[in-house]
Amino acid sequence: MGSRSLFDPLVDAYDAARPTYPDALFDDLARLAGRPLAGADVVEVGAGTGIATRSLLGRGARVVPFDIGPGMLARLRERTPGIPAVLADAEALPLRAGVADLVCYAQAWHWTRVPAAAAEAARVLRPGGALAVWWNDVDAEDEHWWGRQQDRLEAMNPAYQRGYRARPWADELRWTGQFADVVTLAGRWARRIDVDTYLTWLRSKSYVAEIGDRLADFLDAERRSMLRAFPDGIIEEPFRTVLVVARRP
Ligand SMILES: C[S@@+](CC[C@H](N)C(=O)[O-])C[C@H]1O[C@@H](n2cnc3c(N)ncnc32)[C@H](O)[C@@H]1O
Repeated sequence: MGSRSLFDPLVDAYDAARPTYPDALFDDLARLAGRPLAGADVVEVGAGTGIATRSLLGRGARVVPFDIGPGMLARLRERTPGIPAVLADAEALPLRAGVADLVCYAQAWHWTRVPAAAAEAARVLRPGGALAVWWNDVDAEDEHWWGRQQDRLEAMNPAYQRGYRARPWADELRWTGQFADVVTLAGRWARRIDVDTYLTWLRSKSYVAEIGDRLADFLDAERRSMLRAFPDGIIEEPFRTVLVVARRP
């Protein structure tokens, strides 16, 4: 049987080029969760190759990562030996009720059915614990290269629409009735990467992989476009992080 994760075939690109998350996001997470990350029991769902897992571990949290992708989890274990990474679905975590201080989703909450995943997070959280979901969104709407890239994506992958993640995340969590004090924070940061790494990062996206036969054409067009915008081949990529933290009563 094949993997249920669209990301398993993309694991090498994912591992090589996906962005990390800024320190400020973890400071905000601790503040909004009302407790330090050090010593916290963290359930991380959709952990992938462990990009956020390592940041949480680095801050002293006790993290158990879960994912539906065996390939992603295998890479996580390679990168972070000794960690008990578990194959499991967000809607059915193999955990007793009330065991976690924090349930975290980095770049993964949009893959869930919110009511079911929220109910499962609330189940495994201790009273007063928090569900935290966050994303790095590219923050380049005013840039010509970004507009052209979105035009190409929408033309080459009919299932893709720019802005697909622009949803009222905090309200969706309030509407589940499982949480109190739902707070959203945004921050800005940027990274500099060479054009080859940039193209690898594009290849790590599921909706880019869905382009299929025309993937090489898309990547060629992107290389030309990015080199026009960044002639020295070093791309300054701006991000907006969005963090939503919901406390369990
Ligand atoms: C975009 S990746 C994010 C990986 C990692 N958290 C990061 O920050 O790079 C989304 C991950 O969510 C996983 N995923 C998707 N649906 C899931 C579900 N229902 N339950 C658990 N994991 C899921 C995918 O397999 C993938 O590894």
